[in-house]
Amino acid sequence: MAKRVNVSSMTLNKFQGKSILITGGAGGIGSQIARSFVEQGGKVGILDSNLNAIKIILAEIESSGGTAFGLEVDVRDSKAVDQAISELAKSLGGVNVLVAAAGGSLGTPRDLDEISDADLDLVLDVNIKGTFNCARSVIPYMKKSGGGSIITFSSIGGRSPSPVTGVPYAAAKAAILGLTKRLAKEVGEFNIRVNAIAPGLFLTDRLEVMFNEMSASEKSEVLNGIPLGRMPTLRECADPVLFLASEESSFITGIVLDVNGGRMMPN
Ligand SMILES: NC(=O)c1ccc[n+]([C@@H]2O[C@H](COP(=O)([O-])OP(=O)(O)OC[C@H]3O[C@@H](n4cnc5c(N)ncnc54)[C@H](O)[C@@H]3O)[C@@H](O)[C@H]2O)c1
Repeated sequence: MAKRVNVSSMTLNKFQGKSILITGGAGGIGSQIARSFVEQGGKVGILDSNLNAIKIILAEIESSGGTAFGLEVDVRDSKAVDQAISELAKSLGGVNVLVAAAGGSLGTPRDLDEISDADLDLVLDVNIKGTFNCARSVIPYMKKSGGGSIITFSSIGGRSPSPVTGVPYAAAKAAILGLTKRLAKEVGEFNIRVNAIAPGLFLTDRLEVMFNEMSASEKSEVLNGIPLGRMPTLRECADPVLFLASEESSFITGIVLDVNGGRMMPN
């Protein structure tokens, strides 16, 4: 007699019993990543500087029957990060995965003559130091669990010149690639993998406004440059993150995964 296999529970519970921290987890991409992990059985801890947005995503996850905790924290503040991660690790019973998505251009101008010193500091500090602070802070918990996966957020704008974002963003997102590779080398012996994801343009609510404000020629530079010929869904950014977090990528570390519909193809 054929054995009955419940395929849906096999695929849906890939992160059962796993604790996932997501910085920027209340944002456009981060909240989709949180939903996707919860759908696959994971428990999520959200670290974000926007308390209202944290409350909204936590309420949504709780009402769907999932497990989620959240804390307001500025990822630039290493002591506050350590404290928040310690609290979340207690609530979640450890840390298996870190997704470091807090970042972006953060409302700073794109064009050189409009960028202030404070704008430059903000973009470099949140993206680079924030990623460093959170990654360093989760390592002891991952060592205790016998391993883990860290996914950092670069960008197509850190891989090649993009018309959408400016010089500070390009510098920060390129720096995250160096951080990712160097860290991967250092923590590999503890079965901790560190990989970067480099999304192309994903139209979160906020970026949709920005995209609509771009000139027709800038818009078509982006759209015509995507061989797949369409804008992606947010899920198409979350799914590759889940792949890097999962056992399916167990021998992959120190890479950058470009998720851009072919708009930028590195050699
Ligand atoms: N959306 C895109 O097209 C795109 C493309 C490439 C890379 N990315 C990267 O993906 C990540 C998520 O982007 P998004 O589009 O969802 O942006 P978003 O603005 O919707 O989300 C970012 C989140 O980070 C939080 N945040 C900002 N500063 C913080 C700080 N100091 N401490 C803690 N949290 C802070 C914000 O409150 C927000 O919830 C970013 O790193 C961004 O650079 C996005």
